[in-house]
Order: sequence, then structure tokens, then C-alpha cells
Amino acid sequence: MVKIRKIINELAPYVPGRSINEIAEEYNLEKKDIIKLGSNENPLGPSPEAIKAVQEEVMKINQYPESGLSDLKEEISAYSGVSPDQVVIGGDGADEIIEILGKTFMDPGCEFIVPLPSYMYYEYILQTYEAVPIYARWDVEKNKLDVPSVIDSINKKTRIIFLCTPNNPTGGLIDKEDIETILKATDALVVVDEAYFEFSLVNNVDLLKSYSNLFIMRTFSKVLGLAGMRIGYGLSNPELIEYMHRSKPVFSLTKLSHVAALATLRDKNYIKKSTDYSIASREFLYTEISKINNLKIFDSKANYLLIDVHDTGITATELSKKLLKEGIIVRDCTSFKGLDEYWIRASVGTMEDNKKFVQVLKSLVTH
Ligand SMILES: Cc1ncc(COP(=O)(O)O)c(C=O)c1O
Repeated sequence: MVKIRKIINELAPYVPGRSINEIAEEYNLEKKDIIKLGSNENPLGPSPEAIKAVQEEVMKINQYPESGLSDLKEEISAYSGVSPDQVVIGGDGADEIIEILGKTFMDPGCEFIVPLPSYMYYEYILQTYEAVPIYARWDVEKNKLDVPSVIDSINKKTRIIFLCTPNNPTGGLIDKEDIETILKATDALVVVDEAYFEFSLVNNVDLLKSYSNLFIMRTFSKVLGLAGMRIGYGLSNPELIEYMHRSKPVFSLTKLSHVAALATLRDKNYIKKSTDYSIASREFLYTEISKINNLKIFDSKANYLLIDVHDTGITATELSKKLLKEGIIVRDCTSFKGLDEYWIRASVGTMEDNKKFVQVLKSLVTH
């Protein structure tokens, strides 16, 4: 038998959001009738400029892509307010950035801190580098980071602290002062995951000037509408970025992703329209779901809402299945550590999708 690394042998598979193809087959539904509110994508589709750019580039896919990506780094640095040497780009989305963080900063036995509940992929990936997760706490009731729980978890073995703001799946923001408190309390790398920052209208880039141990992680998968192209980026000081380039796959961004990313960042109208639409959609869903008696909903600064379904007496898994039968995909949060089996997360959709979702949800949880 070929020898498998112990850690891989023991690793439980990651549970991603479910796809339209999978659900259409399982529930015998037409793909066009399925409403996907499970993966926090942009409900408006991609930028028309990105589509045009991909169509033009497609005849060149016999050639290798760029590895330096200097034009995209320029565009990202202008979008983010940093210099190009402060940018690293990942070709499997921000998930690849997490992978590069693992390769660059983790040795076997060292620790990383994750407040729970939060994005589960940090732990999934960093464990493959034989790093040890230490759990801090996100106070779900207040929808705030429990800062002392993070500070108390720091020790000499800590290499990375993940702070997700807005936090996935709760939607709450971490105050800038709290991020600074943590940055000051450690020499470890503080990774501020801003995958959803555009929907919150705030960001933490200004802190890069004062803290050399800050790394900001972002993605093209959310407001920028390119989840299927798999593009992520990170911002930090040039020295750390240079180390990360040493461990990054050389050609991870495809030619099509490259031109799609450039065209999207240049399409300022699309970015503005997408941001405004998702925020309006979120506020609509918040208001409507708040009216359903036995559901509890949390204020969110992202493009999704966390819903507490305890009072319905139906588990998230059962409720998600009932919604799937009606062609609606939401995220059953049972696999999120730090939440029990009574939480779902719903992404903002088009207004039409939102109305259908609210109507079906209401009919399933009220009697
Ligand atoms: C908080 C957070 N960070 C990072 C990611 C990874 O995004 P991607 O790999 O699509 O760029 C996601 C994806 O949903 C996320 O929710």
C-alpha cells in the first residue's frame, strides 16, 4: 500500500456549499428553477466587460498565462490603496492565499488561532501543514469578536491569527480598535479576511502603514462577481509579500481569470451597482425575515444573513432539505464549528429570488 501522510489520512473532508448541478440531479429539478443562496455569490452575474474580455482572450488559451501579473497588481493596488509590491494574487481564489499562508508561515506543531464560528477553510488547509488550531470565540448573541478569548490564546507557538470581518457566517464586523489591540499583542501574523469588505463600506488597509504583522486577504468571488474564475489576493508589507511569492504556484492564475479580473476592476459602474444592489437586497431580506415569528436573524454587514432556527424545532439540515425540494439552496451551518445544528445562512439574491425565498421559508416554519 502506498503510504499516505498521517494528517491527510485523518482529515475529515471539507463541506462546501452545494452546487446547482448536484441539487438538480438529486431533487429532479430543472437547473433554471433553482435559486442559489448558499455560497454568497453576486446575484447580478459577472461584469459585461469581464465577459467580453474572456471572449477575446479565449483564442489564446494555447499559451501559458502571465506569471508576474504586473498590470493586475497595479489595478489591485489602485483599487485597494497600496503599492503593487504589497500585493500577492492567488489563482484558486482567496482559498489559494490561505494555502500560500500555510506554505510560507507554518511549521509542524505551530499554532494558529481561529475564533468560532468563522470560515472553516482556514483550519482545513492549515492542518495539512501539521499546524494546530486553537479556538477563540465569536460571541454570536452580540455578533462581536470576543477579543480577550483571542489574546488569551496567544503564546510562543502562535504563527497566525485569523480575523474575519465581516465574519462568515455571522455577518458582524470586528472594530478597528480591536484589530489593533490584537496586532499589538503579538508578533504573529494577523490575517484580516476582508472577503466581504465591500458590502460593509469599511476596510482596514490604513493599518498596513503601522503594523508589519498585518495581512489582509480578499477575493474576486463576492461583489466582483468572479467566483467561478477563482481569483483572490492579499495585501501586506513588501517583505512578507516577497516571501509569499517564493511559495506561490507560478502559473496559478489562468489567462481567462487574468483578463476577467482586470476588466472587472476597471468597470467601476458594475462594482458600484453590485455593491448597492447587494446591500439593498440584504436590507430587504433582513426586514422580511425579521417578521417571521419563530426565526431570529442577525444584523449583517456582508451579503448573507445568519438565521437562528431553534424556535422552529426543525434542524438546519431538515429545513435545508425542505428548501431544496422547493429549489432553494441555503447553507446548512451544521458543519461550522461553534454553531449547533439549528442555524442556516442565506445569501442575498435578486429581489425576485429573495421574495420567493421569504415566502417558501415562511410557509415551512410557521403553522
Ligand atoms: C470569509 C471567506 N474567506 C475566503 C473565502 C474564499 O473565497 P474564494 O476562494 O472564493 O476567493 C470565502 C468564500 O466563501 C469566505 O467566505
